[in-house]
Amino acid sequence: GKPPNLYSFRSVAELAPSLRTYVLNQQKAAFEHHNTFRVAVSGGSLPKTLAQALLAPSDGSPGDSVDFTKWQIFFADERCVPLDHEDSNYKLLKEELLDKIPEKMGKPNVWPIDEEYLDDVQEMADQYEKNIVSVFAARDSVKLPLFDLLLLGCGPDGHTCSLFPDHPLLRETDAWVLSISDSPKPPPRRITLSLPVVIAGTKIAFVTTGGGKKDVMKKIFESEEGRGLPCGLINEGGGDKVSWFTDDSAVEGVSFP
Ligand code: 6PG
Repeated sequence: GKPPNLYSFRSVAELAPSLRTYVLNQQKAAFEHHNTFRVAVSGGSLPKTLAQALLAPSDGSPGDSVDFTKWQIFFADERCVPLDHEDSNYKLLKEELLDKIPEKMGKPNVWPIDEEYLDDVQEMADQYEKNIVSVFAARDSVKLPLFDLLLLGCGPDGHTCSLFPDHPLLRETDAWVLSISDSPKPPPRRITLSLPVVIAGTKIAFVTTGGGKKDVMKKIFESEEGRGLPCGLINEGGGDKVSWFTDDSAVEGVSFP
């Protein structure tokens, strides 16, 4: 298949407008298809970069406008902590993006975890899956939910969402949302979309910046070992599905197909 798309920029500030155009193209396609935009977002550095992309002033052209009223935002992964905890991806997204959305852009429908289940990660995952079912369709009528867009990060070890290299969770093919209580990246207790759900997404964008990502990018694009990492497995989806938005230091010395 076609190799994944790679867009590299000098800085995050230069990356943001291109990410904006990409997201707005997916928004348009999704609105045309089903009049709603179903998105999953990661934590890490992504919410901040996303805010830079989406909250920038519009250039005034008809396609260049974010209509949050028709967005359904899920968490690609979430830490099982209270929503006001400093480790919460919800808190991060809220502070970086949601709280800053001007009124005229509308309010997205956001799906945080339910704090009632903080004591039981498996129950947390099951309940979160029910939210996805409620927006997509009943589990027994669709094999997998098809997110219009997944906005993901890539860890220096090749993890994405809370899918870590060599972890048994990678082999889960039944549930849409999985729980993990031994995450190698703290905090240990989390929920995450499953690998098949990520791979089924219509479009997947990895946003990866900084020199700390150079080695893993080299692995993913140049080695067999890297192709077996969670990011590498998803990357196999190729250019119709997968795009990378990076800065130059994250891809320094990496050769691309
Ligand atoms: C999490 C994140 C995680 C993140 C990567 C990359 O909750 O821990 O969702 O999967 O996306 O670790 O993070 P950076 O973009 O900050 O490197």
